[in-house]
Parts: sequence; structure tokens; C-alpha cells
Amino acid sequence: MDLLTFARGPGLQWAVTIFVIGVLWKLVGVILLRAKPDLSEPRNPSTWKGLRLIITRSWPRKEFLRSTAFTEVLGYTFHIGFLVALLFYLPHILFFEDVFKGVLGVNFQQVFGVQWPYFSGGVINFFGAVTVAALIAVLIHRIVSPVKRLISNFDDYFSWFVTIAPVVTGMLAYGHVGAPYQTLIAVHLLSMELLLVWFPFGKLMHAFTVFLSRGTEGMQFERKGASL
Ligand code: HEM
Ligand code: HEM
Repeated sequence: MDLLTFARGPGLQWAVTIFVIGVLWKLVGVILLRAKPDLSEPRNPSTWKGLRLIITRSWPRKEFLRSTAFTEVLGYTFHIGFLVALLFYLPHILFFEDVFKGVLGVNFQQVFGVQWPYFSGGVINFFGAVTVAALIAVLIHRIVSPVKRLISNFDDYFSWFVTIAPVVTGMLAYGHVGAPYQTLIAVHLLSMELLLVWFPFGKLMHAFTVFLSRGTEGMQFERKGASL
């Protein structure tokens, strides 16, 4: 079996299986966590307003803007760049439509009645380049900032690596750079599979947990009477 056949066949099946089971396992684990009973008198009877934190913590408070603007802008830049490159590139859409059809047995367009919009390869490569630049900048920041370096562990660096890898290999494949096209596509797919396999086990799970934890924190803060 050659590399591409492996990457499109068993490699992909295993990666998706590990991703789905791993994410469900982790989410069920988080939901079943027993909170310690809080015996203190609540300062606020209702805590629903605390859920506002889900939205308001998506950007820094005015007081912290100067010290966090750099990482905030870079963070948004690479998340958006990554998602655009993944979701609005024609070969990717064809791949997702195939998966959609394989799983549900129906055509995406028939179900939603719309065609998935996409950008040209050139535009996707632009988003890819911006994503790579922003990811390199956050890595440099992590290494040169003494505090950030001290609190960083293997998970931080490896999660960074599996995030940047599919973008770099995708750009190499698009440009036909470095190896025969078949090999480049195989490596591109394998890098995505590495991302899927690592996803549930490290901090990338934040994609599923970040809003849950912000909401919980908001409700706990409000119970304690904090001004939100
Ligand atoms: C709904 C989806 C997601 C949300 C809301 C989200 C949110 C966040 C937030 C709030 C941070 C910390 C802030 C920062 O360092 O700038 C962060 C960091 C990070 N995210 Fe996400 N994220 C999402 C999906 C993803 C996905 C799918 C990936 C990778 C494929 C990813 C990769 C990363 C990485 C690598 C970092 C750390 C950056 C660093 O080293 O400083 N995120 N994300
Ligand atoms: C700028 C960023 C990217 C570029 C330029 C790019 C480019 C490409 C190219 C040229 C192909 C092959 C098309 C073909 O000949 O069949 C491809 C396929 C694919 N890419 Fe990307 N890619 C990028 C980012 C990503 C990311 C971030 C992911 C996932 C995390 C991803 C997942 C895939 C998948 C699943 C396929 C389908 C492979 C197949 O045909 O079996 N790509 N991409």
C-alpha cells in the first residue's frame, strides 16, 4: 500500500475514529465532574447573568488592552486564517461533501439548497501565509516572554506544531514544492490526521470547552458578587 492510499484509507479512518471517541470521552468526563459543594452564602441569588462572560471575555477589558493587544490580534488572525483555509477551498469542500454523502447518504447541496462558497487557490494561500506568520509570531512570543516560557509545556509546543503543519503542507502541495504531488498530498493528509489524533488529548480541546468553562466561571463569579 502506498502512502497516499494509506492516508486516504486506514489512516483517515483511524484518525477520525480516535478524534470522535476521544472528544466524546473528554466531554462526558468534563460534564460528569462533580463540583465541590459551595457552602458559602451566595451574594447574588441568580447567576444566569454570569453567562454574559462567554461574549464579553472574547475581547480584553480596557484596562488590559495595552498589554494583551498583541496576542489577542494574533490569536484571532491565525484562528480565522486557519478556518477560512479549511472551509472555503474547493478541494476541501469536495472532500467534506464526500464525507457528508458517505455518512448521511445525501448530497450537501440537496439538503441545504445552497452551494458552499469558496475562494480561489491564490486567496487561500494568502490566508495560509497570514496564518503561518501569526502562528510563528505567537511561538516567538511564547519563547521570548520569560513568564510564558516558564508556564509552557510539551502540550503547548506540540499543539502549535500540529496546528501549523496542515497549513504548511497544504501550501507546499498547492505550490507543488519539494516532492511529487502524490507524496505532498499524502503528507498533507497525514498532517491533518496527526492534528485529529492529538486533538482530544491536549489543549486543542479548548475548541469544545472554552465557552463551557467561561460560562461556568461567569456564573461562579456572579454568585460571589463580582462585578462582571
Ligand atoms: C470555536 C473554536 C475555537 C475557539 C473559540 C478558540 C479559542 C482560543 C483562545 C481563547 C485561545 C487563547 C488565546 C490566545 O492564545 O490567543 C486559543 C489558543 C489557541 N488555539 Fe484556539 N480556539 C478554537 C479552535 C481552535 C482550533 C480548531 C485550533 C487548531 C486546529 C486552535 C488552535 C489554537 C492554538 C495552537 C492556540 C495557542 C496559541 C499560542 O500558542 O499562544 N484553536 N484558542
Ligand atoms: C493554506 C492552507 C491550505 C492549502 C493551500 C491546502 C491545499 C490543499 C490541496 C492542494 C489539496 C489537494 C487537492 C487535490 O489535488 O485533491 C488539499 C486537500 C486536502 N486538505 Fe488542504 N490545504 C490547506 C489547509 C488545510 C488544513 C488546515 C486542513 C485540515 C486541518 C486541510 C485538509 C485537507 C484535506 C482533508 C484534503 C483532502 C485530501 C484528499 O483529497 O484526500 N487542508 N489541500
